[in-house]
Amino acid sequence: MDVLTSIAIGIWVFIPALVPNSAAVLFGGGTPVDFGRSWRGRRVLGDGKTWRGLAGGTLTGILVGLLQLMAGDLYGSEDYLGFGPMPQALWIVLVLALGSLLGDMAGAFIKRRMGLERGAKAAGLDQYDFVVGAMLLTLLLFPEWFLSIYVEGNGIFALVALLVAVPVIHRLVNIIGFRKGLKKEPW
Ligand code: CTP
Ligand code: MG
Repeated sequence: MDVLTSIAIGIWVFIPALVPNSAAVLFGGGTPVDFGRSWRGRRVLGDGKTWRGLAGGTLTGILVGLLQLMAGDLYGSEDYLGFGPMPQALWIVLVLALGSLLGDMAGAFIKRRMGLERGAKAAGLDQYDFVVGAMLLTLLLFPEWFLSIYVEGNGIFALVALLVAVPVIHRLVNIIGFRKGLKKEPW
């Protein structure tokens, strides 16, 4: 696979991990994941991580992933344009979507331990917690798939391109969310 194809596939298959964060903003509200509990004088996760956001975000990521699999099928691609053969492709979509929001919660956990309030800026963490979550979980559960996309061949270019693109995409989406009044902060 040439470099550009590799990069395109690497970003395309990561979409189910990119969607949940934005979708969580739309669904968010209600009971927090930590049920309001504190640990060492600070909230475990805070009010910014809710069950509705977690469920709505994960399901939206899965839905978008399913549409991508249908697109891959229509395109006639045996590996569903990078997701791999069935039924693994379905699991990868699920793991990417869930891993993304688990990473986001791990990020919130770290922010609270650092004494940062909900919504406070944490450069690096805000942009990459969900990327790390989605990547770690897929690497753990589907190592061969992960390595084939982001390491082997020209995969490393895909990984670097994704890591460069993510903060830009994240920022743009958050600015849109902020302007539309969906998000409290533009980051
Ligand atoms: N959200 C949610 N449940 C989640 C993740 C996000 O309800 N599991 C919603 C919340 O309304 C949250 C918004 O999406 O305020 C934006 O998410 P994010 O920026 O990750 O949260 P912050 O409010 O910035 O909180 P934190 O400081 O904990 O990251
Ligand atoms: Mg935030």
